[in-house]
Amino acid sequence: MDDRPIGIIDSGIGGISILNEVRKYLPCENYIYYADSINNPYGNKPKEEIIKIVDNIIKYFIKYNVKIVIIACNTASTQTISYLRNNYKDILFVAVEPAIKVAYDKYKDKNVLVMATPGTIHSDRLMSLAKEYYQKNRILLPCTNLAELIENENLEEIPIYLDNLFKNIDYNQIEVVILGCTHYPFIKKYIENALNHKVIFVDGANGVKKRVEFLLQENNVFNNKNNQGTLTIILTKKETENIIRNYLVNNSNVCFKYKDKSSI
Ligand code: DGL
Repeated sequence: MDDRPIGIIDSGIGGISILNEVRKYLPCENYIYYADSINNPYGNKPKEEIIKIVDNIIKYFIKYNVKIVIIACNTASTQTISYLRNNYKDILFVAVEPAIKVAYDKYKDKNVLVMATPGTIHSDRLMSLAKEYYQKNRILLPCTNLAELIENENLEEIPIYLDNLFKNIDYNQIEVVILGCTHYPFIKKYIENALNHKVIFVDGANGVKKRVEFLLQENNVFNNKNNQGTLTIILTKKETENIIRNYLVNNSNVCFKYKDKSSI
């Protein structure tokens, strides 16, 4: 039995879409979620800056003695995972990434739209996934600042934003949308409204929860099966608490802690 927590990182509320799935699937585990809203958005930042930010969060997590770290942010995953794996050899990492392979395996002949931050769309990792799992009818669409609108709850601006975003693509044809940013599962309805029809959504949460389970099994570090898992949420902006409470599927055993720049 191993009651050390599983750490989860995102540039704010987005990783809650991953946390909800993982926690439902592995409810006996303890979790610590780092909502880095103060540094949101990661999507427009240079790689070196994101590495520095994530590196600090990992150092913080080490104090909590985490057994696994989930990078629940596609932008951070695609840009920092090689660095993290090289520099923290003792930590088990799980990195969410745009579900290009899932869509390729299940919907090869469909028209696919990949939505993600500019940082993710232009990353080497996404380029290599897109090459390996080539699909003829697939559009890669950078969504500058969309995560920021969701993070700051500027939801009333989203319909206009999406209408503008989609105006240059043949959106009537889109059948599958890959949500390549963990903030986007919270605006599925807005996306379908802007496309004006229903679509199949695909994201990376399922792959993450299966991978976490595999690592717990492989390293024999499951928590006690009778434990009711706890969740600690580290906030870097106090306002984020209410937004997170709205998006959390399970509000039991949750405690919020505010961390300002000076606290360790
Ligand atoms: N949630 C994030 C992602 O999956 C990042 C959003 C951002 O900070 O730009 O990419």
